[in-house]
Amino acid sequence: MERYLTFALCKGRLAFQTLELLEKIGIHCEEMKDKSSRKLIFVNEDLKLKFFLAKGPDVPTYVEYGAADFGVVGKDILMEENRRIYEVLDLSFGKCRMCVCGPETSKEKLLHHEKIRVATKYPHIAKDYFFNKKHQTVDIIKLNGSVELGPLVELSDVIVDIVETGSTLKENNLVVLEEICPVSARLIVNQVSMQMNPERIKKIINGLRKIV
Ligand code: PRP
Repeated sequence: MERYLTFALCKGRLAFQTLELLEKIGIHCEEMKDKSSRKLIFVNEDLKLKFFLAKGPDVPTYVEYGAADFGVVGKDILMEENRRIYEVLDLSFGKCRMCVCGPETSKEKLLHHEKIRVATKYPHIAKDYFFNKKHQTVDIIKLNGSVELGPLVELSDVIVDIVETGSTLKENNLVVLEEICPVSARLIVNQVSMQMNPERIKKIINGLRKIV
C-alpha cells in the first residue's frame, strides 16, 4: 500500500496560497478551504496526501523530524530556525523584506556603530546581521510580535522585522533603515523522505517548479 505523503503548512494566509498553487498541479484539499474550521489535519484519500496546519516556526521542525515530508514556510523562518532540511523551491509568494527599521533618528546610531538595542522576533537573524556582517555590537531583545512597539516605547533603538506593504511602519512613524534580505515562501523537504521516496517527491517539486 502506498504511504501518505504529508505537508506541513503555516496556519493562515500562507496555507491558502499554498493550496491555490497545489491546485494548479492537480492537488486538491477541499476540506481545508473552510476558513471557519478549527481542524488541524486534512486528508486526500485519493492522492494519499495529508496536510496539517502548524505555527510557522514549527514547520521546519516537523519536516526535520520527518513528521512531514514537505513543508511550506517563509525564508525568514528558515533562516531563524536553521533546521536540517532541504530547501528545494522558491514559491514566489509571501514576498516581503527582512529589514532594520526604526525612527529616522536611529539612522545616525547605525552609521556610527553605536551600541544599540535591537528588538526582534528573529534574534538569530539579527545577531548574524549585526555581529557577523556589520561587526557592530548590539543588545538583542527577543519579542514575540508587534515588534514595532519596541522603538515607540523606548525599549529599543531599532527593530529587525519583515516589511511587506510598509503600512505598519508608516502608521507608527517608523522607516526602513537598512535592508537585510528578501523573503518569500519556500518548499522544504525532509532529507530522509527525499532518499526513500524520490519519484513521488520529485514529481511534486517538478510540477511546482514549472508554474512558479
Ligand atoms: C508582520 C510584521 C510586521 C508586519 C509587516 O506582523 O512583523 O509587523 O507584518 O507588514 P506590512 O509591512 O504590510 O505592514 P504580523 O502581522 O505577522 O503580526 P505580529 O506583529 O504579531 O508578528
